[in-house]
Amino acid sequence: MARRSIALGSGAYLPERILTNAELAERVDTTDEWIRARTGIQQRHIAAPGERTSDLAVKAATAALADAGVDAADLDLIVLATATPDQTFPSTATSVQAALGMTGGAAFDVQAVCSGFIYALATADNFIRAGQAETALVIGAETFSRILDWEDRATCVLFGDGAGALVLKAGEGEGTTDAGVLSTHLHSDGRYRDMLYVDGGPSSTQTVGYLRMQGREVFKHAVVNLSNVVLEALEANGLGPDAIDWLVPHQANQRIISGAAKKLKMDESRVVTTVARHANTSAASVPLALDEAVRDGRIKRGDLLLLEAMGGGFTWGASLLRW
Ligand code: ACO
Repeated sequence: MARRSIALGSGAYLPERILTNAELAERVDTTDEWIRARTGIQQRHIAAPGERTSDLAVKAATAALADAGVDAADLDLIVLATATPDQTFPSTATSVQAALGMTGGAAFDVQAVCSGFIYALATADNFIRAGQAETALVIGAETFSRILDWEDRATCVLFGDGAGALVLKAGEGEGTTDAGVLSTHLHSDGRYRDMLYVDGGPSSTQTVGYLRMQGREVFKHAVVNLSNVVLEALEANGLGPDAIDWLVPHQANQRIISGAAKKLKMDESRVVTTVARHANTSAASVPLALDEAVRDGRIKRGDLLLLEAMGGGFTWGASLLRW
């Protein structure tokens, strides 16, 4: 038996305000048909004025702690993935820590854009495996609506706001049938950092900036990188695609998700998709999808989940998790 991270519970939060494609079409030169056909997106949630990334994160975290039956005081680690922090510093994780009333342990942010949740999960899992943490809260939380150029139809239609969280606890397990995080796999290639970026920042422009993207290039790389990392995760565990009960992919675009499922020869009925209703919520998309499928009873204890994501940098990664 070896030390590993067991997922005790999950939680999620979406802002109340829903922005439909039809409403967007009144603001920019686009149509509901174009957005649906190219992306599968029908609507997205938008944070209220003054509602910060940490506010969404606290709601998701509170729900995850309740689901896990864990008290915030028992946490000794918070790893929060975001590319849209409340402030440059302190980290959004420390705001969440304060709001939860947790005063011990460590809290910090990680930044890998849309792959952020997989990076945060890998970080927390490694802290637990190394014996440096016992009970960890892993959060993906974003308010991408704040960094969108609402005049740029090629990007503003793609993203939404939200947060999702997972509680991990140190436990024992072996092989691929015991519960827990089986493995995590991270990659990045900074040569592609100009394909998807924000054109501002404290040390470059002293402004927050707006998201810029070469959509077609991102799309091509996403399909290749995600296929590779998914196969890497399966191979590392000596498993084939048939072993996966649920693919829980990053929700960027229905066509990217379907491409990944096709590569794995997985029926779409085993793929958790929320992109139509949530759009791309960056680091929040994987835990939002995971929590939805747990809540509606699709994901059951003992199921094998394959999580994957790709984002700016480029960064990409995958994890196999026995729920
Ligand atoms: N409404 C109507 N027309 C539009 C819109 C819009 N919202 N946006 C772009 N167009 C037009 C373009 O101007 C272009 O017109 P032109 O041919 O007259 O020049 C035409 O549609 C085609 O544009 P493309 O960008 O080539 O369209 P494409 O088929 O590549 O689809 C999309 C664009 C949806 C962005 C796609 O490339 C994509 O999904 N890429 C992945 C991007 C992504 O998901 N990024 C998220 C972050 S990374 C990640 O999460 C994986």
